Amino acid sequence: MTREQDEFLELDRAAARLGRVRSPATAEDRAVARMLPALLLLVAAAAACIPAIPEPRRDDADRMETTEERLTQARQRYLDKCMACHEAISPARHPSGQWPKWVARMEPGAELKPEDKELILLYLEAFSAP
Ligand code: HEC
Repeated sequence: MTREQDEFLELDRAAARLGRVRSPATAEDRAVARMLPALLLLVAAAAACIPAIPEPRRDDADRMETTEERLTQARQRYLDKCMACHEAISPARHPSGQWPKWVARMEPGAELKPEDKELILLYLEAFSAP
């Protein structure tokens, strides 16, 4: 076989490989594109049902053996102190046993007074993940 024939065969194989690889991928892309509006709706619906930073109600206060006013104040303190560097993180993101560790880690940057820490932990634990 000549060098030219050899190179030609190699090009041919490369083209075949590309053909095989590309067509299923574009079909997949199209399928995803078709589903995208439905997916976006689903995400929006989920976001509407589960408030990221829930507002305390009476039964939440009872469960935490505190008052609704104090739990509302705790939520406000959380928003005041914990959004400076990143978006407010949903209390449901971590189980209650993990929150003291996270708050301790954020404490120096957030410049928390002991009372801030107590309130913020109360709020986070009230709405933490199970
Ligand atoms: C001075 C800036 C700053 C402040 C104020 C701050 N954070 Fe953070 N936080 C960070 C940085 C930077 C990271 C990512 C690096 C890391 O994990 O340490 C982070 C990460 C986190 C994470 C882990 C990421 C995740 O998705 O779970 C949690 C939880 C968190 N912060 C909670 C808090 C809470 C609660 C407060 C308020 C007490 C707070 N942060 C205030 C800077 C800050």
